[in-house]
Amino acid sequence: MKAFEFSIPTQVYFGSGEVNRIPELCCTLGKKAMLLAAKDTMRTLGFLDMVEELLRKGGVDVVVSDDVAPNPRDVDITRQAGIFLKEQCDFTVGLGGGSAMDSAKAVAFLAAQGGGSITDYLAGGPHADLAGTAPAFPIMVITTTAGTGSETTPWWVVTNTTDKEKPGTGNDSTAARVAIVDPQLMLSLPKEITRSTGIDVLFHAMESFIACTATPFTDLFAKEAMKLVVDNLGKVLEDGSDIEARTALAWANTIAGIAIGEGKSSTVGIHALGHSIGGQTDAPHGMTMAAIGPAYMRKTWDADIQRYAEVTRLLGYGEPGMDAEQLARMSPDALVWTLQKFGCTITMTDLGVKKDMIEAMTDSVFKTMKNCLDCSLKELSRGDVVGLYVDSL
Ligand SMILES: [Fe+2]
Repeated sequence: MKAFEFSIPTQVYFGSGEVNRIPELCCTLGKKAMLLAAKDTMRTLGFLDMVEELLRKGGVDVVVSDDVAPNPRDVDITRQAGIFLKEQCDFTVGLGGGSAMDSAKAVAFLAAQGGGSITDYLAGGPHADLAGTAPAFPIMVITTTAGTGSETTPWWVVTNTTDKEKPGTGNDSTAARVAIVDPQLMLSLPKEITRSTGIDVLFHAMESFIACTATPFTDLFAKEAMKLVVDNLGKVLEDGSDIEARTALAWANTIAGIAIGEGKSSTVGIHALGHSIGGQTDAPHGMTMAAIGPAYMRKTWDADIQRYAEVTRLLGYGEPGMDAEQLARMSPDALVWTLQKFGCTITMTDLGVKKDMIEAMTDSVFKTMKNCLDCSLKELSRGDVVGLYVDSL
């Protein structure tokens, strides 16, 4: 067995009703919090008021910033970090999906540097390697979606509005100190967000499993998470109030996040290429994976016959008695079949990508997501990336 490492620095509180533990948990992080949440939705659902009240119950003062964009933008992070510093906050709380949690991480990080522009720390910026930076202020996250895995990874993604890129970054200090995963908060999640975030979980798990950086630790979580999504996403799309299926998906999301984040397998070329689609079009993150995934599988299925065969099995495709090569060869079809089953048949054209955007998207992959691309089991050249994009139009 090859050598590998992992660490899980985040205290995870998982289960229905765990949100009520905020008072006992928040007071360990400081006396004043900046609460970041998506515009309108968290207030409309009553979650913003509930969390604010729970924080105050724990003896914490709260500054609310409920203006997080669906894909957090550099200009917003820079502004929000300025507010954090002006208000002399001690920690951030991200309430919502990946955007709110990533904003909480990015603001906690930028504020610790004394403010300035977040783009200095994104790919292409003067401090993109984060070397010598101060550790982020403490971060608490409360996830309301079963997608992104941000609650158990150190990473955050911020859109560079000048270059239309969506680079991901992070270091040990930007893993949340406390993560609350309460499926009760996911019951009212709209169907389309349930779909796109659920598909994101499937890709985190599958990509972790077919990464050259996969380990026995990450395989354990990746395989279980794939099974859970396959068994439960359809149930939740049919009946959003199915708490058992919602809980299973929330668990799948948490452990897939641990696989790619704390387990350090990362994701592969699918996420690397998907991020650049998101940077150009602002399309929902999960849908960008659905658009690029089949072409990626067609390109790479023979890189590791046993692993790709296992993907086909985990997706519930193939016939008994088929050998590993037959199953591996079928993995692209297995993925297409699965995406169809969950109503995610989509192309890059559907997401608003035009052929003339492909050069810029390819540049962005190599500039901002090369580490992720390099976790693929097959080496992918610039020509390969262009080819994958053209095949996915
Ligand atoms: Fe993702």
